[in-house]
Amino acid sequence: MLSTREGTEEEPVRLGVVGCADIAWRRVLPAAAEASSITVTAIASRDSGKARRFAERFGCEAVTGYKALLDRDDIDAVYIPLPVGIRHDWVETALHRGLHVLSEKPLTTDASSAEFLVGEAHRLGLVLMEAFAFRHHSQHRAVARLVEEGAIGAVRSLMCEFGVPERADDDIRYRPDLGGGALLDVGVYPLGITRALLGDDLRVTGASLSFGRGVDLGGGVLIEAPEGVTAQLGFGLGTGYRNTYTLWGETGSITVGRAFTPPPTLTPLVDLESGSHTRRIDLEPDHQFLNLLEAFADGVRGRAPVATDPILAQARLVDRVRAASDPSGV
Ligand SMILES: NC(=O)c1ccc[n+]([C@@H]2O[C@H](COP(=O)([O-])OP(=O)(O)OC[C@H]3O[C@@H](n4cnc5c(N)ncnc54)[C@H](OP(=O)(O)O)[C@@H]3O)[C@@H](O)[C@H]2O)c1
Repeated sequence: MLSTREGTEEEPVRLGVVGCADIAWRRVLPAAAEASSITVTAIASRDSGKARRFAERFGCEAVTGYKALLDRDDIDAVYIPLPVGIRHDWVETALHRGLHVLSEKPLTTDASSAEFLVGEAHRLGLVLMEAFAFRHHSQHRAVARLVEEGAIGAVRSLMCEFGVPERADDDIRYRPDLGGGALLDVGVYPLGITRALLGDDLRVTGASLSFGRGVDLGGGVLIEAPEGVTAQLGFGLGTGYRNTYTLWGETGSITVGRAFTPPPTLTPLVDLESGSHTRRIDLEPDHQFLNLLEAFADGVRGRAPVATDPILAQARLVDRVRAASDPSGV
């Protein structure tokens, strides 16, 4: 007998949402409403009023408690935007209920936990994907193409920063028990773009994290890629808003503004500097959250594979940054 969870290749993926997170409200659920390949079926919160408010806006069922949502047999997959420090157990539970998982980024706090969850997803034949939306914006492929075409000569270095202003005192990012801190919240983006542009053969040659409120509030990382290419990365909570990178080559440089958070209406801010000239590269706006959701649905419905190697490479790099920043050398 067919399980009620099995859908054909063409049917929209029936999605449950575990936690009424701000990012779900602002970005992911509005994009899901536009995605033809996704139907949001139910949304769960610890607080029934909050679940109702989200459910009313997005036209789905409100559920009180995460377990009640995972026990439903009318969903194929879940999106889990819980704080990273408590994500592992809910991702594991969802996989064990036979649900495909789109997890907020990063999947977990460390590589050994990521390896376990990726192993479970493979064993169970389920899709496990991290919601790094920037990977689904076409501006980075356009930058890579420009570099391949020789627009800035051989790349010498990458500089990237992601910082956000001070958050409310009770924000999950200031809670060590919930996996708070700048490295896991914003630092993962400069590390991610380094992997996307320079590959995974990376050596962390230096890292520094500054602490306050019981979490790391910011830091800097120095990375060496093959052929002497370097990356200098910075990130922070409680800084002027900035998410930018520059690829610097032998004959010029390319700078991308709003590198990680371009809204769907924004014409990409990609500037090519060569000699004494700077020109804006003509690119179309793109909807990275919609693309992310469509890619997840394609994976769930078997239309395209979803690789899990990037999850592991990213988690191992984060671990190496932590180790390099620890003066005790652990
Ligand atoms: N992909 C992106 O572009 C992007 C952007 C921003 C944030 N994020 C990531 O998304 C995740 C959520 O961030 P956010 O800013 O949306 O945070 P948030 O609004 O605080 O959402 C976290 C949710 O987790 C649930 N939760 C469960 N236990 C909790 C606890 N003990 N304390 C607080 N909340 C708890 C809450 O849902 P209920 O109250 O409904 O149970 C809460 O709404 C983070 O990992 C963050 O890094 C991703």
